[in-house]
Amino acid sequence: MVFPSLAEMKKVVFVLGGPGSGKGTQCEKIVQNFGYVHLSAGDLLREERANPNSKHGELIEDYIRNGKIVPVEITCSLLKDAMEKSNSQHFLIDGFPRSEENLNGWNKEMSNEVHLQFVLYFDCPQEVCLERCLKRGSAGSGRSDDNVDSLKKRFNTYVNDTMPIIEHYNGLNLLRKVCANKDADAVFADVKSIFEKEN
Ligand code: ADP
Ligand code: C5P
Ligand code: MG
Repeated sequence: MVFPSLAEMKKVVFVLGGPGSGKGTQCEKIVQNFGYVHLSAGDLLREERANPNSKHGELIEDYIRNGKIVPVEITCSLLKDAMEKSNSQHFLIDGFPRSEENLNGWNKEMSNEVHLQFVLYFDCPQEVCLERCLKRGSAGSGRSDDNVDSLKKRFNTYVNDTMPIIEHYNGLNLLRKVCANKDADAVFADVKSIFEKEN
């Protein structure tokens, strides 16, 4: 097997943080300023759920409503397909990897072809995240998981399954932490200086 050189590899930034920490909002700004392609694992799963030809629709709905992590084979193949369809070499992968299973599945399938630049982590208190998601729900997000019951489960999953992944990347010196508890432009000022330094 011939492996691509670092210069030939696609470059990826993983974007992590609690539900409502502002991952999607900041990714949009990064796209505008730094030309990455934004792939949200949650958005790809919601799209797959809405596809009447998908055999995973019901499973995905059950996992999303209960704040559980969808099996990585499904999520990783959606990410891989989206990367292959794009001509870009630079991707923001938002909301992934969210568990050890996500991480192992990605490493097995993708780590030979894709270079992980760093992991952007939005640090935000749970009560702020909760308020933002409830507001997003009442403003008509249409999401079946922007309600108090689902959010309790999503925060549990975040603490139990995702925080260890954030710690893992911290140990590898790949974590770039940003305080997300301020207005979106102020958060982006910090994000911008990270991207300027890394690229
Ligand atoms: P995530 O992708 O992490 O779930 P979003 O970017 O979708 O987060 O943001 C969740 C909600 O909070 C959205 O309604 C968004 O408009 C709002 N929001 C995002 N960033 C901020 C911020 N810095 N301050 C206040 N509200 C924010
Ligand atoms: O990131 P977002 O809030 O859009 O994710 C919504 C839901 O999608 C998660 O709570 C989870 O059920 C599912 N998801 C997943 N695996 C991921 C990302 C999202 O199962 N890597
Ligand atoms: Mg999001």
